[in-house]
Amino acid sequence: MGWSSWNNFGPDINETLIRDTIDAMEKTGLKGAGYIYVNLDDGWQRYKGARDEHPLEVDPLKFPNGMKAVADYAHSKGFKLGIYSGPGQTTCAGFTGSEGHAEEDAKMFASWGIDHLKYDSCCSHVDAPQAEVQQVMLDMSKSLIATNRSIVFHACHCGWSNVQEWASQEGANQWRIGQDISDDFNYPGNREKYYFDVLDMIDRGNNITQYSGPGHWNDYDMLIVGLDGESKQLVGTGASDLEYRSHFSLWALVNSPLLIGAAIPHLSSFDLKTLTNKEIIALNQDPLGEAATVQWENENKTLQIYARTLADESMAIALLNRGSETKSITVSMREHLTVGWDVYRLRDLWKGKDLGPYDIPYTTEVRSHEVKVYRAWKVACTVGC
Ligand code: DGJ
Repeated sequence: MGWSSWNNFGPDINETLIRDTIDAMEKTGLKGAGYIYVNLDDGWQRYKGARDEHPLEVDPLKFPNGMKAVADYAHSKGFKLGIYSGPGQTTCAGFTGSEGHAEEDAKMFASWGIDHLKYDSCCSHVDAPQAEVQQVMLDMSKSLIATNRSIVFHACHCGWSNVQEWASQEGANQWRIGQDISDDFNYPGNREKYYFDVLDMIDRGNNITQYSGPGHWNDYDMLIVGLDGESKQLVGTGASDLEYRSHFSLWALVNSPLLIGAAIPHLSSFDLKTLTNKEIIALNQDPLGEAATVQWENENKTLQIYARTLADESMAIALLNRGSETKSITVSMREHLTVGWDVYRLRDLWKGKDLGPYDIPYTTEVRSHEVKVYRAWKVACTVGC
């Protein structure tokens, strides 16, 4: 859990922005809620152009005190610092990459006190043989391990080359399952341009939940909560408060890393309430690490029930209405969730309200683009026990 610079700022990052972000994350309660990684994405490097022609150095105009000073500041405030590079000659934004220098760069990152590396193939190896992509990711993974510093490794390969099938064996802790997200809950127009909205991304993840688990996660991309269509970097017209909340609920349920993409001072009090809901975050951080899957959907797939088991044997249940009108959804513990519980109680995690116990299926109204999230426990009987 943390923040990443890309979705809002693109390559326009600098030391002041990072320090201010750290301070704001502390002040707004985001740190207290668990958001401790502050990840610099593309744009911290000094040179544009091929690595064969330039060394990899910090841009002294953007980071006048060097990267170690930024990491020291982050650590002094209880945060961790993430950085970005890629296995090519250049990164996606055209800065020098790490090609041929994995070991040297890993050592440099470790010497600065870096805690997370996003290593971005920039989808450039889409047509490359899978073995080649695996090899460059493995080179960096091994180099990071050899530093003896604990550095989270994000093998970012846009969901290509079946990355989810091999990345964790190569030491990756997370890998993106698709290309960049757009700032939209559902905007089919983007598909032609290869941008994924929230619903596209969730659908893309449906068949690969089995690859995700403790220490190695499917990454559905950084959050768009609070961008409000004003990102300097992402396409998209923005989403409503309710849609951002639904997006956050879904990312929590499938155990995607929760990396805030908006400028922290831009977050409204509604956004902050969304991002700091402890009971929703607890699903994302549950030690069992099981990702939610679709348990039921109606014929035209506009209504869906997602569910997963949690470490204490309770269940997380989400009801998603993808359609344009309010609809009622009924959840049956026997029919839809097949846990066979006769009696259960529920807690509505967005309302913070206990419901039940029930010994019949539970029916509720779900608004257009709403995700209702519940935690369910088996109980012995409805009354007197
Ligand atoms: C492509 C990635 O998908 C984005 O998240 C971002 O890291 C850019 N590259 C940076 O150039």
